[in-house]
Amino acid sequence: MKITKICCIGAGYVGGPTMAVIAKNNPHLKITVVDINQDRIDAWNDSDLSKLPIYEPGLADIVKETRNKNLFFSTNIDAAIDESEMIFISVNTPTKTYGKGKGMASDLKYIELCARNIAEVAKTDKIVVEKSTLPVRTAEAIKSILHNTGSDINFHILSNPEFLAEGTAVQDLLHPDRVLIGGESEAAIDSLVKIYNTWVPEAKILRTNLWSSELSKLTANAFLAQRVSSINAISELCELTGANINEVAKAIGMDSRIGPKFLQASIGFGGSCFQKDILNLVYIARSYNLNEVADYWEQVIIMNDHQKRRFSERLIKTLYDTVSGKKIGVLGWAFKKDTNDTRESAAIYVTDHLLNEQALLSVYDPKVSRVKIQSDLNYLNTRSEQENNDGVTVETCPYEALKNAHAVAIMTEWDEFKTYDWKKIYTDMKKPAFIFDGRNLLDKSEMKAIGFDYYAIGQ
Ligand code: NAD
Ligand code: UGA
Repeated sequence: MKITKICCIGAGYVGGPTMAVIAKNNPHLKITVVDINQDRIDAWNDSDLSKLPIYEPGLADIVKETRNKNLFFSTNIDAAIDESEMIFISVNTPTKTYGKGKGMASDLKYIELCARNIAEVAKTDKIVVEKSTLPVRTAEAIKSILHNTGSDINFHILSNPEFLAEGTAVQDLLHPDRVLIGGESEAAIDSLVKIYNTWVPEAKILRTNLWSSELSKLTANAFLAQRVSSINAISELCELTGANINEVAKAIGMDSRIGPKFLQASIGFGGSCFQKDILNLVYIARSYNLNEVADYWEQVIIMNDHQKRRFSERLIKTLYDTVSGKKIGVLGWAFKKDTNDTRESAAIYVTDHLLNEQALLSVYDPKVSRVKIQSDLNYLNTRSEQENNDGVTVETCPYEALKNAHAVAIMTEWDEFKTYDWKKIYTDMKKPAFIFDGRNLLDKSEMKAIGFDYYAIGQ
């Protein structure tokens, strides 16, 4: 099928950057990214590029190059579906918060709405591409909706999961390890391969059946998260035995079968996907009565929750078993560096725990606003909004956030934290001055030489 126009439903962390990179490499294609969220679309269209809804290094330049040339952002979903030969579905698939599968299964209501919207509007043949991360066999449900419209329109479903990581989205999209396309129609697969092939070598484009493609995405995230939980599990043992997790990670990572990446011990993984995708995998396994499989993967989440919890417990214990009324400076709120995304960030849970112990938190993050930090805490529903407001202040200057604090808790590995004047910070803090480095970001001997009581993960 000849593709001239593409529509992407969902202008989020995946839809926006992915379509920008496709547009950059395919100037002959018209690409319209649509969303029901007017504010988000307005932000994508803002002439001030610092106001784009998503912060990703390198993204603003690509948007500047392509926007209103062959890349468009709009809320007119029907018009974009109608004119496009290929439609990507890139909407959110969060963990269900109600009904059957609550807290485990993926909520597919947004996916179904998209399928119904396409079924209603389409007057010509379409290729529908699953870009969102979906439970294995979701394509069957989409097919069933699209193929029961009573018309003679042909719909081909492809699965093309996205593997970008936030903070490096543009580089990941420009130089992917692989592009995965699952489908039943070779012709439809060819149409999508042609688009990627404008910048991705053919050898890196993998063709599979639909179900392998859907399941590979969940599996990749499960394996990645498992590595983080594995290294974090060993970090606890390090703290009790005198072994150092950085040394252990280096030693095992030099085994080419293990490899050095994704072995950074931390406060626990966050982000919108690892937890949701593993919970979904566990739910799917249980629905097939594969209880051992489900238990195996669930342990990755249990370990991660434990890692977040033991970070705050260690902090409280070290501060003489009480943080009540004590100022704790929190550096970083995003779930990792170089993103403004805070979904499932460990910082939220650590802060919540410390608030329960009546600590006074003072937060600084280079890319996350006060409003976002407050709404993340309010969303937990642990206490009233007023109590969250009273317990947490948000500073725009890191030195203010740490002034007169009893302890610093480092939650995100932002590079700028390493460049601070730590001598000045020490002078301005209460003594003894504690650092709890949840990212093993700072130099332990340097911090000790300044006078800090320095605690890192796994050392
Ligand atoms: P997001 O929440 O940032 O964006 C989703 C967007 O879809 C929102 O703006 C929402 O308003 C819009 N939307 C929802 N229903 C809609 C509808 N019916 N019509 C039009 N717009 C609608 O989510 P995201 O982070 O971009 O993730 C999207 C999918 O991609 C998820 O399945 C996720 O698991 C997967 N994924 C995410 C990442 C990542 O790094 N964030 C990476 C790979 C895969
Ligand atoms: C992850 C995957 O890496 C992407 O391939 C995938 O496309 C994406 O999920 C998704 O499906 O959403 P992302 O969550 O954006 O990407 O970021 P990661 O770099 O994977 O980090 C996830 C969390 O793990 C972060 O909190 C990070 O700090 C933590 N992490 C990562 C560690 O604690 N240690 C590590 O060694 C690596």
